[in-house]
Amino acid sequence: MRLALRKVCRSFGALRVTQDVDLAVETGELHALIGPNGAGKTTLISQISGELFPDSGEIVLGDQAITRMPAHRRAAAGLARSFQISQLYADFDAEDNVAMAVQARLPGGFGMWRDARSDPRLREPARDALGRVGLAQRAGVRVSELAHGEKRQLELAMVLAREAPTLLLDEPMAGMSAEESHRMSQLLASLKRRYTILLVEHDMDIVFSLADRITVLVYGRAIFTGTPQEVRANAEVRNAYLGSD
Ligand SMILES: Nc1ncnc2c1ncn2[C@@H]1O[C@H](COP(=O)(O)OP(=O)(O)O)[C@@H](O)[C@H]1O
Ligand SMILES: [Mg+2]
Repeated sequence: MRLALRKVCRSFGALRVTQDVDLAVETGELHALIGPNGAGKTTLISQISGELFPDSGEIVLGDQAITRMPAHRRAAAGLARSFQISQLYADFDAEDNVAMAVQARLPGGFGMWRDARSDPRLREPARDALGRVGLAQRAGVRVSELAHGEKRQLELAMVLAREAPTLLLDEPMAGMSAEESHRMSQLLASLKRRYTILLVEHDMDIVFSLADRITVLVYGRAIFTGTPQEVRANAEVRNAYLGSD
């Protein structure tokens, strides 16, 4: 589902973390958002998902303006986000965690978690999502016993379980070993076209291999949007971010 931002601005006191950001993610596109630490990537994602509101500007999902919509209604409108910092329940097993994400999208899904854990309507979609991220064999393992890379795979399963067409993924490879992030990038490649994806990622090899287009954010401003080749060729981007090598 197409996502478009127009002139989005947000400040924290005197700090302007998002300045007049225009950004369009076309339906089925994998669009990467890159930029140095503190550039405002996570803050921008939060404004799209509804944890934060912009001070001004407009955010449109499909044909719906969602700028002032609360986060739970945006989720129902078709957005799912992953967080840079893990939000997993360590004492539950992998399948329980995904079942909770499934529950969040079901009508009347605010029942007691104690009941939800044994609800078969949650079990099947939860197992399905675990299978899609390669964790089928780890369904019964407590989160606290999963490897770091498996936890990030689990978070992706929870995003997929929400069955939203548009995904906001904030550094899904953070802290992963080379092997784990290779597996994760193959996973993301398998989602291409079936989802509209905005991906925040630091590893440029991964970004350049996965993304259809890339937007470069520096000090809250989107300074450039283009294909991987166009981004590589752009001198301003090289100076601001990629290094001039
Ligand atoms: N709630 C907040 N209050 C004040 N400043 C914040 C808040 N959240 C983020 N910031 C600041 O906004 C800037 C952008 O942060 P962030 O969006 O996390 O950057 P990135 O994800 O690109 O590393 C940083 O300078 C950060 O310190
Ligand atoms: Mg961030």
